[in-house]
Amino acid sequence: MFFDTRLSNPPGTACASCHDPQLGWGGNNRSRSGVAAGSTPQALGGRNSPTIGYAAFVPAFHVKREKGEVKAVGGLFWDGRADSLEAQARGPLFAPLEMNLASESELAQRLRSAPYAADLRAAFGLAEPADDALWARAGYAALAAYQRSPEVSPFSSKYDAVLRGQAKWSPQEARGRRWFLDPAKGNCAACHEVAQRSKNPAEHLFTDFTYDSLGLPRNPAIPANADAAFFDLGLCGPARQRPEQLPASVCGGFRVPTLRNVAKRPFLFHNGSFTDLAESVRFYVQRDTNPARWFPRDAGGRVQRFNDLPMAQRKHVNRDEAPYDRNPGQRPRLSEREISDLVAFLKTLDDGFRP
Ligand code: HEC
Ligand code: HEC
Repeated sequence: MFFDTRLSNPPGTACASCHDPQLGWGGNNRSRSGVAAGSTPQALGGRNSPTIGYAAFVPAFHVKREKGEVKAVGGLFWDGRADSLEAQARGPLFAPLEMNLASESELAQRLRSAPYAADLRAAFGLAEPADDALWARAGYAALAAYQRSPEVSPFSSKYDAVLRGQAKWSPQEARGRRWFLDPAKGNCAACHEVAQRSKNPAEHLFTDFTYDSLGLPRNPAIPANADAAFFDLGLCGPARQRPEQLPASVCGGFRVPTLRNVAKRPFLFHNGSFTDLAESVRFYVQRDTNPARWFPRDAGGRVQRFNDLPMAQRKHVNRDEAPYDRNPGQRPRLSEREISDLVAFLKTLDDGFRP
């Protein structure tokens, strides 16, 4: 089902068109704009396809209190609005800008005539005549089951081999790992968390599932962005409403993604504003030391820092910790050589490593 291109209207778009195993389970159905193209001509969404690799480990959305602060955790989609893979699957199948099916009946019809119809019937006990809703529900469950399978979360990277004692870091990868973990250098593990003392790969998911506002540059190729007053605020919409327990300062926050297979993904971050891994690491360390490199200038020549957020939200962009606790002109937390080291380390997170 995940690879079935007949499940869209018009046919041609499968889940895998935007979540391609060759592209780290990301990719945008051949769009070059950083955001996903749908099945109808010209359909272009508002967000980059996140990886579905290791999505099975994302907990349901909840709010936790930590050091007097309320934090959002978990939930699927960049803004956490779906609680389970079953619930999530309903989204793309019927979204007009994605697979564009008109109804559950239309889905059921296609499933009844699919080459795997007998398997679905057997697995979910669908005695004919089963109604459309039952077929659809079986479909969501099958997609979720596939996404929970080891094919999608194989833990077969060099990183995992090292954890299991089957491989060794190169000197450059070892340096990159050091910058990744060091709170005074990359500090990446503050959010892209790993259980350092554990040898269990499943405790090395490279995310703590929390949310953060990174102050990314705006992607002008996103159709909705033609309206200068439009902003994608993640936790605060447009695709969801801010949960009552959370303060307005969370607006602009998106969920910390796993970095497993990140080197294979053609577009990075929720708005697809980066295509190159080294460049995205450079953004982290130079965002505050050299803002003019990343953000356009307004008519008066002032650099529009954090221009993908409304003015009122720009002050909530994370500036508290390394690597973003710098000011213009200061030395970035990582040198060019250290950025290359870090990228070499991130490449060890690609699945399919053969010693
Ligand atoms: C046209 C491109 C496209 C297609 C087709 C598509 N997706 Fe997605 N997928 C996306 C985008 C874009 C997002 C993020 C949307 C958001 O955050 O609002 C997403 C998010 C997800 C997520 C959440 C991952 C996470 O970590 O939060 C899952 C799971 C997922 N898709 C599974 C599927 C399944 C299953 C199908 C097929 C039924 C599918 N997708 C079809 C583009 C697509
Ligand atoms: C304070 C939390 C935090 C820290 C520290 C952090 N990240 Fe992130 N990272 C995030 C969040 C949140 C996102 C998604 C943001 C978005 O798309 O709006 C993200 C996204 C990414 C992505 C894009 C992944 C994808 O699939 O699109 C890369 C690459 C990345 N981070 C690498 C790093 C590296 C390397 C470091 C250390 C230099 C680092 N991050 C430090 C929170 C953090």
